[in-house]
Amino acid sequence: MAGVQATLTVDTGSRRYPIFIGEKLLSDESLFAPYCADRQVLVISNAPIAEHYLPKLAPWLMQAGNSLIEIPTGETHKTLSTCEMIWQKLLAAGFNRHCLLVALGGGIVGDITGFAAACYQRGVDFIQLPTSLLAQVDSSVGGKTGVNHPLGKNMIGAFHQPQMVAIDIETLTTLPKREFRAGLAEVIKMALLFDADFFDWLETNIEAILMLDKASLVHLIRQSVQLKVNIVAQDEKEKGCRALLNLGHTYGHAIEHCQGFGKVLHGEAVAIGCLLACYFSEQELGLDPSLRKRLQRLLYQCDLPRELPLGTNGSKMLETMKRDKKNSQDNINLVLLDALASARIYPCSDLALIQRHIDEYRLI
Ligand SMILES: NC(=O)c1ccc[n+]([C@@H]2O[C@H](COP(=O)([O-])OP(=O)(O)OC[C@H]3O[C@@H](n4cnc5c(N)ncnc54)[C@H](O)[C@@H]3O)[C@@H](O)[C@H]2O)c1
Repeated sequence: MAGVQATLTVDTGSRRYPIFIGEKLLSDESLFAPYCADRQVLVISNAPIAEHYLPKLAPWLMQAGNSLIEIPTGETHKTLSTCEMIWQKLLAAGFNRHCLLVALGGGIVGDITGFAAACYQRGVDFIQLPTSLLAQVDSSVGGKTGVNHPLGKNMIGAFHQPQMVAIDIETLTTLPKREFRAGLAEVIKMALLFDADFFDWLETNIEAILMLDKASLVHLIRQSVQLKVNIVAQDEKEKGCRALLNLGHTYGHAIEHCQGFGKVLHGEAVAIGCLLACYFSEQELGLDPSLRKRLQRLLYQCDLPRELPLGTNGSKMLETMKRDKKNSQDNINLVLLDALASARIYPCSDLALIQRHIDEYRLI
């Protein structure tokens, strides 16, 4: 089944671009030629990914005049100084404003590349070749780019849409299992938010997904990306419904922060965050507790955490939640569920209530 299996289109009104999903896409010259012909191309990746996948790109992309830069791995290197390495390379090699940047990697490579492209000569084109499940279903789509600042994650950034996204499911064969499962948490979140049938499908097909069954992976990625595309088309700059995508994230970021970034993977923290959001929704909105039980079972099958890590509690989490960049005035803006596939933003000024529900959840 090599080749493109599905094509989706992002249309924000001002920008329109395709997302290709399939197998052996990285070596498909015809897919890339329209974007790469007659321009300087810089491929941006990191060492482990370049080792696996650069040879596949080589025949078509690494031609004379084009270049590669390997950037360091990890959240601590998602910084302006890594962007400066990229800009230095572009300037030293005389790249003009018609050049193309190519992000080959996970969400970190994609976010840095997008931001470097947004700023270089006031904005140049880039394409996304995401290699982690999280990047394939989430970060490569929608145009959020950026880097971290010592005072906050993703605090420096820009909206800059790619020219295209090519999702090659073969890359998932080398992705560490824990990273794959963390990506699944974002998929489950999308189903919880928007699509009850997709949630049912995940429950039925989780074993095939974990075995990396190709047809299941294509379906899983296509459904998740389509749900995100629908939201981005309505609200590119997160002025409204795009904020729903933060289900589980306000709690999740607080868990990551309490544990120290890197100890708990982002998707693992989001998994626990979704359970906390369900619990709060049960207490305050009357959500049927059976949904939390279903979610717990699915997360268990994915070997994703369901309990707050040791050392994390309501009081510690609240301190971080108070600084969340999505807060407004004195409210913490939680994303809650009235039912499966029915979500809303719930501005909450009762901080003691948030803390109490976290601590109650710890004890059940
Ligand atoms: N822009 C957005 O809308 C958006 C959305 C969600 C998350 N993000 C960002 O995404 C980042 C997390 O992305 P991530 O989870 O992909 O992390 P990551 O980029 O660090 O990748 C995870 C790890 O897997 C490795 N890896 C990736 N693909 C591989 C492959 N095919 N084979 C072997 N190893 C592989 C990477 O080198 C890394 O060590 C965070 O910085 C987060 O802020 C952005």
